[in-house]
Amino acid sequence: MAATTITKWMILSLNMFIILTLTHAQQVPCFFIFGDSQSDNGNNNPLITKAKADYPPYGVDFPGAIPTGRFTNGKNIADCLAEFLEFPHPIPPFAATKGPALLKGLNYASGAAGILDNSGINLGDRLCMNRQLENHKATIAQIAPLLGNQTSADVYLNQCLYVVNIGSNDYINNYYQQPPSPSSSLTPDAFADELIATFSTQLNSLYELGSRKVAVFGVGLIGCIPQEILLYPITNGSPCVDDINIAVGIFNGKLVSLINDLNTKLPNAQFTYINMTSIALGGPGPAGVTEVNAPCCEVQKAGDSAPGQCLPNGSVCENRDEYIFFDNFHPTEISNTFTASRAYRAFLLTDTSPVDIDHLVR
Ligand SMILES: *[C@@H]1O[C@H](CO)[C@@H](O)[C@H](O)[C@H]1NC(C)=O
Ligand SMILES: *[C@@H]1O[C@H](CO)[C@@H](O)[C@H](O)[C@H]1NC(C)=O
Ligand SMILES: *[C@@H]1O[C@H](CO)[C@@H](O)[C@H](O)[C@H]1NC(C)=O
Repeated sequence: MAATTITKWMILSLNMFIILTLTHAQQVPCFFIFGDSQSDNGNNNPLITKAKADYPPYGVDFPGAIPTGRFTNGKNIADCLAEFLEFPHPIPPFAATKGPALLKGLNYASGAAGILDNSGINLGDRLCMNRQLENHKATIAQIAPLLGNQTSADVYLNQCLYVVNIGSNDYINNYYQQPPSPSSSLTPDAFADELIATFSTQLNSLYELGSRKVAVFGVGLIGCIPQEILLYPITNGSPCVDDINIAVGIFNGKLVSLINDLNTKLPNAQFTYINMTSIALGGPGPAGVTEVNAPCCEVQKAGDSAPGQCLPNGSVCENRDEYIFFDNFHPTEISNTFTASRAYRAFLLTDTSPVDIDHLVR
């Protein structure tokens, strides 16, 4: 080849390389996830708890059809968000990750975990939000040596995306648990105040630990999940347990105020609220989904080890893309993809406030 041809070829490949890296570049260097079973991807596997998804049919649609500890048939919301952010792999679980791999971020989420330390205790061990923050501190202690010093670790941590999706268990496995918990006697407003006071401290700690881009999911319409409809009588012809959705709405309203507050008070921070109600009820739902009440898997019954979760090796529906729920608590992959896509790029103005995750990371 003549030298000019080689040069042209090199320029062409360099262009290709730039285009490829630009189009496939991760939008953030790192992504940290805090939450409950909606995000757990294996942290509960080694724990002694009934909140486990390390057996079939969980994971039936995951690559290799292996149960990983995800409480769904395939990907969860955190997996989908990592894909939209163009991470080449899902963010690994804290429990199984060591060394430089943690620089891309970790998933601390734990099934049955809540904002309050005690929520989910009825199911056994779990990593409550405060434990997840402790685990994040331990991670940060490893990042400084990997990057050379604390200053470069701080700069790095400021660039990461942080997603927090927690609070459902404070209702399902605390306030509305059966038999009732000590918190059940509080008014919904007083209970929401207690949650918000604790959550405020936790989100401030997350800021102190270097987070600057934080998406906080509100609690979804848990009065509409099959397990709550089984436990609580439905009134007024409503398809859902309205009292639960009203109580959760009180919490979400206070959470929006908290997030506005944090954005005013914390320099250089951008917190954003993901509105699960808007995503669930506003605009068209996931295409092709027709079964909005029944779970896809055969679930455990009252008196079994974990009522409402899939029966180990139990039967599973064929048409999983047509179901909202995989078990009596958790959405299917198609629902998770739908929710994640609206959190990443808002379809309605009310889906996210003030910004969607796409704008948060830009
Ligand atoms: C920290 O590490 C960075 C990158 O290696 C370097 O540029 C910087 O001077 C170091 N800062 C301190 C305080 O050692
Ligand atoms: C969340 O969505 C609901 C339903 O669309 C709406 O009524 C509410 O105002 C939204 N909240 C925020 C903070 O946008
Ligand atoms: C489920 O099936 C697998 C493979 O057949 C078997 O190893 C396992 O013990 C079964 N688990 C339960 C809980 O029945």
